[in-house]
Amino acid sequence: MRSSIRSLLGGARTGTGLPFAIEVDGEFAGQLNVSSITYGSLASASIGYWVAERFAGRGVTPTAVALATDYCFAGIDLHRMEICIRPENGPSLRVVEKLGFRYEGLRRRYIHIDGDWRDHFCFALVREEIPEGVLARWRQGRAPTAAGQVPEADVRRAQHPLGSDSE
Ligand SMILES: CC(C)(COP(=O)(O)OP(=O)(O)OC[C@H]1O[C@@H](n2cnc3c(N)ncnc32)[C@H](O)[C@@H]1OP(=O)(O)O)[C@@H](O)C(=O)NCCC(=O)NCCS
Repeated sequence: MRSSIRSLLGGARTGTGLPFAIEVDGEFAGQLNVSSITYGSLASASIGYWVAERFAGRGVTPTAVALATDYCFAGIDLHRMEICIRPENGPSLRVVEKLGFRYEGLRRRYIHIDGDWRDHFCFALVREEIPEGVLARWRQGRAPTAAGQVPEADVRRAQHPLGSDSE
């Protein structure tokens, strides 16, 4: 934990990351990290998050993701925000779906987690898709939830190892 916090703070110092604590009514509830920030002609970043179990299911994470994305677009002039999620992570897939993140594709064996390379479904938003802001659009019930639906073909592909006959 200590080394991960050190690395988050290091990223914040060099401008490649923005580590946020998520608070609910003044209580620490979880964490949201904006990472892999690049400026210039890419102007992009990724978001990762978690909340403690007792705060789950209350819309805390979608609110945090919307706030962080709006800040990155309006506050530090980024153009694109990406969120990549393991296919089996239903609650997290709901977070991006609710906010209208657009499904971009299946990345095979993309991130090394728990001792192996794991497939991820990737989603993104670019600034011009949401001139009113992610939080406002979601709150007004205008997020295009269909944008985040993963095509059945990719769900099936993710069920088979890369290079297998059925992949
Ligand atoms: C994924 C995660 C961040 C979602 O956060 P959240 O604040 O609970 O988000 P929401 O309140 O929008 O709930 C999302 C979905 O979680 C599920 N959920 C609801 N209540 C829940 C509970 N008590 N416990 C677990 N999941 C619950 C529901 O499917 C919900 O969708 P719905 O609103 O359509 O019913 C949280 O489950 C978590 O911390 N998981 C472990 C870490 C993780 O997977 N991080 C993401 C890596 S990409």
